[in-house]
Amino acid sequence: MIWNTRITKMTNTQYPIIMGAFAIIGRAEFAAAFSNAGGLGIITALNFRTNEEFQEEIDKMKKLTNKPYGVNFTVWPPQVRQRSERAQSEESYFDFVDIALDADVKVITTSAYKAAKIGKKVHDAGCVWFHKSATVKHAISAEKVGADAVTIVGLEGTGFKNPNQNTTLVNMTMARKLIKVPLIAAGGIGDARGFLAALAMGADAVCFGSAIMATKESPASETWKKQVLYQDIFDEKFYKKIYHLELRDSPIGSMACGHVNEETTIKQFIEDIIANAEEILRRWGFEGNKITIF
Ligand SMILES: Cc1cc2nc3c(=O)[nH]c(=O)nc-3n(C[C@H](O)[C@H](O)[C@H](O)COP(=O)(O)O)c2cc1C
Repeated sequence: MIWNTRITKMTNTQYPIIMGAFAIIGRAEFAAAFSNAGGLGIITALNFRTNEEFQEEIDKMKKLTNKPYGVNFTVWPPQVRQRSERAQSEESYFDFVDIALDADVKVITTSAYKAAKIGKKVHDAGCVWFHKSATVKHAISAEKVGADAVTIVGLEGTGFKNPNQNTTLVNMTMARKLIKVPLIAAGGIGDARGFLAALAMGADAVCFGSAIMATKESPASETWKKQVLYQDIFDEKFYKKIYHLELRDSPIGSMACGHVNEETTIKQFIEDIIANAEEILRRWGFEGNKITIF
């Protein structure tokens, strides 16, 4: 089946599937595998310290894939920057943004805090800018300052949390009414039903985070992968981290891990999502060979 949405059109990807930004593991091998499997792989810039290191990663990516990919710039909020010297501001990324744009990276994503200056640089280079936020309110602000698409992370997701966060269901259905640019749903999605549900709720694409941490190409440690594969979703720590904003810096994934029981390749993961989604659509009576969501 052909999957056609505003995001596949904007990114030139086969599927409306986007890789999450990942501290520590968002590197070229992982991102290239994701892009080669038909999604939009993402290199996460905060994992690199110097211009040379970042340039090397981009060069590596070019060798590993000829498919579209993006680079994420996670901008830390001022209160986090006060606590940590290593937390990046928007300005501290400018050299990396230039390196990515010079290397012809077409999609730049930003997240966590305001990033309109990066957005402007991206637009000046004729590329697209996606911004990720934890609330619909911040997504509206991002649209106002020019983001070409917004990702909203539901309360079910891991990563940066916000006390005013809503669920993916509320985010997507509400944002669909309030926001014109394409939407990307993130948070708690780990199988074909979650994928289809997000599209039905108004998303133009789906972002996978926790669910792909234990794939073969993920550079996560074996311990970390085991934590995903064997995570008891009824364990209290899940609720503490995901819903009660505790265990802040612990590397606990979201409930999306509950859908993952074996270490597959990224290709297998994405193929399973698509094959199962298509099977569900057929069971629901969909007979076409092209699904168009605009
Ligand atoms: C290990 C890990 C590291 C992450 N690091 C970042 C990051 O540096 N920047 C960011 O914007 N999001 C980060 N995220 C969040 C993901 O990009 C994505 O928004 C989130 O995982 C979606 O929710 P899910 O885990 O339920 O799929 C991270 C997620 C995980 C699991």
